[in-house]
Amino acid sequence: MDTKNLASQFAAHFNAKPSFIVRAPGRVNLIGEHTDYNDGFVLPMAIDHGIWLALRPRSDDQVRIAALDLETESAFELHSLTRGNGWIEYAKGVANELLKAGYPLNGFDAVMTGDVPRGAGLSSSAAVELAIARAFAAVSNFEWDAPKMARLAQKAENEWVGVNCGIMDQMASAACREGHALFLDCRSLEIQHAPLPKGVSVVILDTSTRRGLVESAYNERRSQCEEAARWFGVQALRDVSIDEFNTKIKSELGLSEVALKRARHIITENARVLEAMEVMKAGSVKRLGELFNASHASLRDDFEVTNDALNIMVTCAQEQDGCFGARMTGAGFGGCAVALVEEKKAEAFANAVASAYRRRSGMEASVYVCKASAGASLELG
Ligand code: GLA
Repeated sequence: MDTKNLASQFAAHFNAKPSFIVRAPGRVNLIGEHTDYNDGFVLPMAIDHGIWLALRPRSDDQVRIAALDLETESAFELHSLTRGNGWIEYAKGVANELLKAGYPLNGFDAVMTGDVPRGAGLSSSAAVELAIARAFAAVSNFEWDAPKMARLAQKAENEWVGVNCGIMDQMASAACREGHALFLDCRSLEIQHAPLPKGVSVVILDTSTRRGLVESAYNERRSQCEEAARWFGVQALRDVSIDEFNTKIKSELGLSEVALKRARHIITENARVLEAMEVMKAGSVKRLGELFNASHASLRDDFEVTNDALNIMVTCAQEQDGCFGARMTGAGFGGCAVALVEEKKAEAFANAVASAYRRRSGMEASVYVCKASAGASLELG
């Protein structure tokens, strides 16, 4: 992102120089899918695509934001927050949570832009939430506490926007470190920064499919997991080991076939994330790739959140020279896959997958060879 250009866009809108420029990244999840709301483990990485705001404090409590990419402007007042529609709700939701938590907030004028594809499973909404939170921290002069801001942003999304997501996306956008993936225990919220293996590229493969009703399918998965947790007599599926799973399903009846499959995905996926951390430390990229492949199979067969496009894309990726492994990433039902690829072969891989995907699906893919970036940051001011 060209910060000079963003500053001149601000000047064109508000006739003044911005006092701050902030950014927050989107994320790609390397492994640990649908485990966050089961108190489990995840391993996302912030990407070099994000949301940017140039802003300047106001003397009253108005927040005015011009969304450059959408060519619209929206405003609200901090002392009288009311629900409405559209992207501005993310900003209001974050403001509401910050106010509830006792932060004294200052109004501001801002221009906003970004390059996280929307609805692709790369957390554009978490990036907006964290960029707004970072903007409030700058203009209201309070200390930036990444994990705390992530939790507030998640609450904003759950309670104001009404999407029942887990904590992974907000934590990744807030707290990642450049060059690292973020291991997160979603129960204790303990974090570890895990360096990415050397000589490996993370490649995002967008199927260009977007499915409606993702939210109802997501909520359905959540309740099936809760049903399974109740049957196992635990607080969350995080508390069931693979051995316990195998023993109990052999000896007892009463869990529906669907809930059993959902549980098997969560329980094996948690084990894969823990192993992924180990193999990353040991630098065993080959095994990491195998875990990616196993994760995809489990999401396809047991959790049933892939679509044809994702399955085709993952197969196209897995067949290429230099690919260690590939899987769908994010909530699923459409959106993106992620592949782990030998760095030297990443460009050739990107072209080969795009044409294989075109041939087999008849659709165009967007491919991003991406870098692990840092969480939300102050870029100017
Ligand atoms: C979405 C949600 C996350 C997580 C993933 C699936 O991205 O926002 O909280 O549940 O789906 O891993």
